[in-house]
Amino acid sequence: MSHLQVKRNSDSLKRGFRLKGLWWIVIFSIVIVVAAWVIDATQLVKRKTPLATTKKTEPVETLWQAPAETTIPTDSSGEEIRYGKNLIANTASYLGPKGTVMAISNGMNCQNCHLEAGTKPFGNNYSAVASTYPKFRARSGLEETIEKRINDCLERSLNGKALANDSREMRAIISYMKWLGQDVPKGVRPPGVGLVQLDYLDYPADPAKGKIAYEAQCVQCHGKNGEGTKSTDAASWTYPPLWGKDSYNDGAGLLRLSLFAGYIKANMPLGATYEKPQLSDEEAWNIAAYVNSLPRPKKDIANDWPDISRKPIDHPFGPYTDGFDEKQHKYGPFAPIVEARKTKKG
Ligand code: HEC
Ligand code: HEC
Repeated sequence: MSHLQVKRNSDSLKRGFRLKGLWWIVIFSIVIVVAAWVIDATQLVKRKTPLATTKKTEPVETLWQAPAETTIPTDSSGEEIRYGKNLIANTASYLGPKGTVMAISNGMNCQNCHLEAGTKPFGNNYSAVASTYPKFRARSGLEETIEKRINDCLERSLNGKALANDSREMRAIISYMKWLGQDVPKGVRPPGVGLVQLDYLDYPADPAKGKIAYEAQCVQCHGKNGEGTKSTDAASWTYPPLWGKDSYNDGAGLLRLSLFAGYIKANMPLGATYEKPQLSDEEAWNIAAYVNSLPRPKKDIANDWPDISRKPIDHPFGPYTDGFDEKQHKYGPFAPIVEARKTKKG
């Protein structure tokens, strides 16, 4: 083997090594890129769940809390506040069909829907009543006082009659609500106020599926016919009715699917909370559709919504100005209605 041949061989050997080395670099880079992409993708998937729910899981400690009951003054102003609280918690004893003060309502308690006397976060609490009333409400087309708003619930949710503005009962209920909201600045609706707002489904809520879920999760307390269970003295409800003659009438807020679904998501079956809901969003919407498809007392609501274009998307009675029918306004899907109204406004 000549000297020249040896050199040529070792040259091609080196070139071979350089080439292979380049390939290794290329392969290595591809592996790194793919790995980075896979890691990123899995994190995205992981992240997706918590991000989507953060909206609905505000940390508990930031939610509004009612003042401690021990801070109710011991003078006559405190007595009025305490009477107001009793009226909210035990409405039927005072104002129900067998009420000791007057018989002007259906036997339900305000607390049946405004849980824990209107103090429970996302339990339809009264935290923003003192801070936001009087305010304009499109349902009446009027600037509404607290008195008007309270009477709205008496006439609709309790299917009853209004209290006189200067009655001892009205004054007491308002004193209690003002006491509850004493730390909430004017105009503010604190976190945890009212009801949770669920994401809309992409399809209509289904009363048939709702019936199945109702019979699995609600029937043992509210009854097969939504009739509830009376207390032993028959003056109020151990389990309030959900439809039928003793229930809220068709002018009430709960007849709106989003309010019913939001109420039960964070509060029912009894024991559920905002932090520990027991229903999926879909179950909540479907049960709302089932319950609100059943008969209940009627209210003359001809004077509601003087500007019909301001009816909420889930107000189930026409006429509307947005081109969607009553069925879609009752059961959804709601997103297309929201979209159409946005474009209309420009
Ligand atoms: C059948 C259920 C139900 C009953 C019973 C009920 N309410 Fe209501 N109430 C509602 C719903 C639903 C809303 C509206 C919640 C919303 O729009 O977010 C509401 C809203 C209110 C508001 C306005 C709250 C706000 O922040 O704007 C007041 C005040 C009120 N109710 C008082 C009462 C009083 C007082 C009683 C008893 C006499 C009562 N409610 C009984 C369901 C009920
Ligand atoms: C363990 C018994 C129990 C179960 C199960 C239960 N609830 Fe209730 N529900 C109650 C009680 C008690 C109240 C009244 C709460 C209060 O006054 O503090 C209530 C109140 C309500 C109200 C507001 C008052 C009314 O009568 O309109 C609605 C709406 C409601 N429940 C719906 C449901 C739905 C839907 C389910 C099933 C997902 C359900 N509940 C399961 C006991 C129950």
